[in-house]
Amino acid sequence: MAEVLVCRADELKSGSRIITVDNVEIGVFRYKDGFVAYKNLCPHQGGPACEGMIIPRVVAVLDADQAFKRNDFDENEPHFVCPWHGYEYRLATGECVGDSTIRLKRYDTIERDGCVYVRV
Ligand code: FES
Repeated sequence: MAEVLVCRADELKSGSRIITVDNVEIGVFRYKDGFVAYKNLCPHQGGPACEGMIIPRVVAVLDADQAFKRNDFDENEPHFVCPWHGYEYRLATGECVGDSTIRLKRYDTIERDGCVYVRV
């Protein structure tokens, strides 16, 4: 396996950085104290999933009788949304929120000497 330089760690504070390795696009995201990387290919119809918006998970807020009150955001669980048709993926795992059988291919990331690398 090879390690491919993505960028300096301080250059990737939010959003994603797309790199191309052997004609394969990989999206690299900052996540909590480290980084995650996924193949930039949505299993739905091949869209650039890693180039979509990053949003917090939407959660239903219920009242004491378990009746719906409103939606709110869970800032501890970011998702990203494929820009083509809106499939939503968990940033932590690459799993599709609406169908757990769908998952983006994940790559290991390494942070060393102030730089981020992807293992391919
Ligand atoms: S190609 Fe990503 S949601 Fe359709």
